[in-house]
Amino acid sequence: MSEFVIKGGQILEAGVLRAADLLVRDGVIAQIGTGLNATRVLDAEGAVLTPGFVDLHVHLREPGDEDAETIETGARAAALGGYTAVVAMPNTRPPLDDPILVRAVQAIGADAICEVISSGCITIGRDGIALAPMGEMHALGVRIFTDDGSCVMSAGLMRRALEYSLGLEGSVIAQHAEDDSMCSGGSMHEGEWSSRLGIPGRPGEAEAIIVARDIRLAALTGARIHFLHLSTAAAVDLVRRAKSDGVRVTCEVAPHHFTLTDEACASFDPAFKVHPPLRSASDVAAVRAGLSDGTIDAIATDHAPHTPESKERPFEEAPPGMLGLETAAALTVTELVKSGVMSLTEAFAVLSSNPASIAGISDRHGAPLAEGRVANICVFDPDEEWIVDPVRLASKSRNTPYAGRTLTGRARHTILRGEAVVVDSAATR
Ligand code: DOR
Repeated sequence: MSEFVIKGGQILEAGVLRAADLLVRDGVIAQIGTGLNATRVLDAEGAVLTPGFVDLHVHLREPGDEDAETIETGARAAALGGYTAVVAMPNTRPPLDDPILVRAVQAIGADAICEVISSGCITIGRDGIALAPMGEMHALGVRIFTDDGSCVMSAGLMRRALEYSLGLEGSVIAQHAEDDSMCSGGSMHEGEWSSRLGIPGRPGEAEAIIVARDIRLAALTGARIHFLHLSTAAAVDLVRRAKSDGVRVTCEVAPHHFTLTDEACASFDPAFKVHPPLRSASDVAAVRAGLSDGTIDAIATDHAPHTPESKERPFEEAPPGMLGLETAAALTVTELVKSGVMSLTEAFAVLSSNPASIAGISDRHGAPLAEGRVANICVFDPDEEWIVDPVRLASKSRNTPYAGRTLTGRARHTILRGEAVVVDSAATR
């Protein structure tokens, strides 16, 4: 029998913080109350107990690019960030467009210190030509289908994917909304800074056009659509209106899209290169407003590890993407909670309960902590200050755009299925 008590913290219950201890026994929350004791104690003084965070969008690079990340190292970075579940994107090499590959990822992920949920491709090879065997992947538990990294450009194929998903219970089509024909060759946001720097741009309209189109396709089919990493004011506004029209749409944003602008690219540092790109200050303000009014359902990292060699190439040649798992919750607290954009409770909702429900895993993640539930918990200290040091990150890669930044808020302990996998901000295995 394994047993420990998380002592001296506050538990978030129905939006209210209450001082309470929490006893974990044999993988489940055995008791919540005051004055609880056990031989093993995890200190939660000054911290908040919340359901573990859920990331809808991570690139774990296995199979194919294990020099940048593996399922094991990515899951460790996730657990250190307070996550108990992550959805692995299928743009691996080869892409996860087939049940055999999905099963392999699930098998490797089974031993990881964060639950790794495999998504599956919408189209074979992410080529945008023919639908992948979504039904067979669904039978293995896949619920999120996406060609992320690429946009499904054909409206006809997107319509068929949405229609097909209606027969796959709990499934959702997730779109990387950037029109290729407007973006190819572009390395940063198209605007004043791209003109000044002479770097070809990726216009914000390329996102809005696909979001507008796919909202109409979702309305036409009645299927669920989820927009990955939205970055523009126009797209957030389209989602806001679609929601009020009753379309089954959800969306996520990544921390870099509410913390950084395209001006950062003036350094020519490829750490700031990402797709969709860092946008203008008015887009950042609109993303923050969308988080504040609930238009945006989830904060997802788009954790995209790349080797130092590849990120040392010139800006236009370097691959897009940045790390996110170990900094996302802290950026949310530092940039949104402290500035009054959202409350801590709302922050935990966009980091945990909302993404859990989009991924269809609310049976074990994101639901309020209660006796009898699986113990998937983050003990989060909202006041701890720390400095982002790329060398100390658990990810195999180092491509964070936040090196040297002081952040407030950190996961102190992470509990996965009753196992303390992170204790005092260090992984236990
Ligand atoms: O910047 C990005 N990097 N955006 C994506 O959509 C894909 C990702 C990657 O896989 O590196």
